[in-house]
Amino acid sequence: MDTYSFEDFVGDEKVFFAEYFNKKPMLRKGALAGRLDGLPSVRQLDDVLALESVPPSYLRVTKNGKGVPSGAYTRTVARGAALAEAINPEKVYELFRSGGTVTWNALHHLLPSARGLKAPFTDALACDAEVVLFVTPARNDGFAPHHDSIDVYVVQVNGSKDWRVWATPEIRRGDEGSYTAEELGEPLLEVTLVPGDVLYVPHGTPHAAAAKSELSLHLSVGVEPRRWRELLRDIVASVVEDDEFHGWPRLDHGQDSDVLTALSGKLELLRERLSRLDVASEAKRLHEAGRAKGGAGGPREFQRLATADTLHPASLVRRTAAPVEIGASDGVKTGLQVNGHRIAVPDAVAAALRGLDGHQQVVAADFFPGVPEARSLSAVRGLTRIGVLEVAAPVQAVHEKRK
Ligand SMILES: [Fe+2]
Repeated sequence: MDTYSFEDFVGDEKVFFAEYFNKKPMLRKGALAGRLDGLPSVRQLDDVLALESVPPSYLRVTKNGKGVPSGAYTRTVARGAALAEAINPEKVYELFRSGGTVTWNALHHLLPSARGLKAPFTDALACDAEVVLFVTPARNDGFAPHHDSIDVYVVQVNGSKDWRVWATPEIRRGDEGSYTAEELGEPLLEVTLVPGDVLYVPHGTPHAAAAKSELSLHLSVGVEPRRWRELLRDIVASVVEDDEFHGWPRLDHGQDSDVLTALSGKLELLRERLSRLDVASEAKRLHEAGRAKGGAGGPREFQRLATADTLHPASLVRRTAAPVEIGASDGVKTGLQVNGHRIAVPDAVAAALRGLDGHQQVVAADFFPGVPEARSLSAVRGLTRIGVLEVAAPVQAVHEKRK
């Protein structure tokens, strides 16, 4: 399955950030041509729709320019002893066949391919993103002219769609808004998007879209970069975590002179703490926190644990990046602390761990010197389960090599 980088969508990052980002729309015809198989598809949409118990908040159906009330495509399902509203796939198909556009919000909550699409944006822009899927039947008016409050990167996946995009206004409103075509005049861009085309629409930029002669599926990655107010709020929130700000003043009517004096003291303390911050490390922390907002490459813990059970005496293993505290020996065993686990291991195992620097690989059967192969393998499996060791090469490949 294909994976994507931010440059796959926007081209040269330097040019994009200097000339287009937050300034004007950008069209990249054929940017992903022939590389769509890693993205959410029509077939995957059928699969997610068939999941039982999908909450209605994920879906929106619009018909003749108006939102269809969710009661028209939901059903009541039993979840244990409770009842809940869930999407009724048959009703959704029926509305689609009669001309409705289906919008699936937050598709990355459900589909790995949508998480894979989100990740390059979260990484490059250090903020959260949402993958929304639009599926429109043939010859449909789609969406009337409007602007969104967030930046949108559109990828056409199936069929084609006519887009009109107007110039990004000098002064933009933060909210969403709709227009008539007469109000807007001549569009800046009039284009038919076909599979593989990418279109960047900055927030506040009026646009409209309509499907052509076949079913159209496009994905839109909506990104709201964190504004100064969000970043500064984050910094102040981390500073006031300190115990000095823990007290609970009684505010009375806000007139009490003791309270005013105390408040002024806390403000002074806050100013002082803020002035002592290391700006570079704060910027780095904010960047990392933004990138941690999700995307592909989750922990895959079950897969990791299953791998530990398939380790073979010939498997190559190495240290993971997890910090391990190796304690003192009692003459037989040594205490280890890692990932919240405290264990005692034979001194020879602790010595073997000390000797591994992360790049070095060791054969599982030889890890614990001077004991039978099965015992060494058992120690390796145990240390892999708690995250101290990891497989350094595919088990099968190493096994074949040693044959
Ligand atoms: Fe839009």
